[in-house]
Amino acid sequence: MQLQALLATSNPGKLRDFAGAAAPYGITIANIPHFSSLPEVVEDGATFEENARKKAESYSLAVSGELVLADDSGLEIDALGGAPGVHSARYAADEPHNAECNTDDAANNARVLRELKGVSEQKRTARFICVMAVARDGHTLHTFRGAAEGIILDAPRGQHGFGYDPLFYFPQIGKTFAELSAAEKAQYSHRGAAFRAFLEWHREA
Ligand code: IMP
Repeated sequence: MQLQALLATSNPGKLRDFAGAAAPYGITIANIPHFSSLPEVVEDGATFEENARKKAESYSLAVSGELVLADDSGLEIDALGGAPGVHSARYAADEPHNAECNTDDAANNARVLRELKGVSEQKRTARFICVMAVARDGHTLHTFRGAAEGIILDAPRGQHGFGYDPLFYFPQIGKTFAELSAAEKAQYSHRGAAFRAFLEWHREA
């Protein structure tokens, strides 16, 4: 399939996920050239959609006429009232979570484990959400949402992936997302689902 779209992310984990989602279709998705030299977009929106649109719109201005894809994503844990949610990338930071200051994966995972200490397995339900926006020349054309339902373990498992993957157990296959290759994760993940919805839209557009 001929797909002309550029990705806007500096997160190697997301790049790996998108590559895994695109590979079965024979598609290679390239990042925006010189992405790291572009001014960073402050992710201060109240929703995943707001942040995804903001990133796609802003970065699309750097590559005139091109379709630009950006995702905003995170983990919603029911026992924590939906936290860390839009603050997933900076959950270990002091409140209020400063939108310009991400914290590292190990610290974020440690905070989740701390907050869930003593919470029974049945109550450790959670979901990953990914909202992807596609924009051109500063305007969002469409957004796509994907979700994956799982359970938060009480200790990490697996070496792959990024972020909260080692804590996110996916009952359907009896593994955490960190125990999956990029291609396997894409079959089940929120990002894989959003990407496939984008491909469907692109096919019909
Ligand atoms: P953002 O979309 O750049 O705001 O960052 C999303 C944050 O959510 C990441 O830094 C991770 O902490 C978490 N996250 C989103 N998607 C995933 C995933 O697929 N696996 C693990 N963690 C994720």
